[in-house]
Amino acid sequence: LFAKRWDFLTSVTDMANLPDIGDTEIAFAGRSNVGKSSLINALTGRKGLARTSSTPGRTQMLNFFSADEAPLTIVDMPGYGYAQAPKELVEAWTNLVFAYLRGRPTLRRVFLLIDSRHGIKPIDLQAMALLDKAAVIYQVVLTKSDKIKPPALTRLKEETLANLSKRPAAFPAIIATSSEKVNGIEELRAEINHLVLN
Ligand code: GTP
Ligand code: MG
Repeated sequence: LFAKRWDFLTSVTDMANLPDIGDTEIAFAGRSNVGKSSLINALTGRKGLARTSSTPGRTQMLNFFSADEAPLTIVDMPGYGYAQAPKELVEAWTNLVFAYLRGRPTLRRVFLLIDSRHGIKPIDLQAMALLDKAAVIYQVVLTKSDKIKPPALTRLKEETLANLSKRPAAFPAIIATSSEKVNGIEELRAEINHLVLN
């Protein structure tokens, strides 16, 4: 899947404009600035595919990417927990995201990104509650693993796994990645390949 050429498909701000149901979809969610867009670029091997920024709140719509001749669409979601975002905007995003999560039969899994330096925050628990409610399987990815030492990462993985054990829709495996140092990217690709091809 990831040997293919990836291209931007469309950006969506309301449910009426979603692309037609087709390929299997996976989506990347998480706090603003956690590294969603960077991870999509690392996975697809296209640096400028998803727009990244050091300023939180860069991705404000559902952005769809597709590969030619591969039956997979990747969705970059707007980040949550962005303090400066106007309230009405946050509400609109939340409504759109929830509507998408609930109403997308081809959505196979959400990768929920958590910053390795911060671990699970209250706002992440809210996101998990939303995913549990929408009954969409989600798998945690610990991002920016280059920012913490290996023993701390191991500890964080264990803590996070324990945290997920009582959540109905949580997938019981955690992957740590660094888009910058290209760590864990092959592991995540393998997970996605397995998901899509089975
Ligand atoms: P929003 O679109 O605002 O929700 O953010 P995002 O989650 O898409 O984050 P984005 O990929 O734009 O990355 C945010 C910042 O984190 C950028 O400055 C990236 O360079 C940096 N970053 C992303 N991944 C990594 C990583 O693996 N390691 C390090 N050290 N920095 C990273
Ligand atoms: Mg982004």
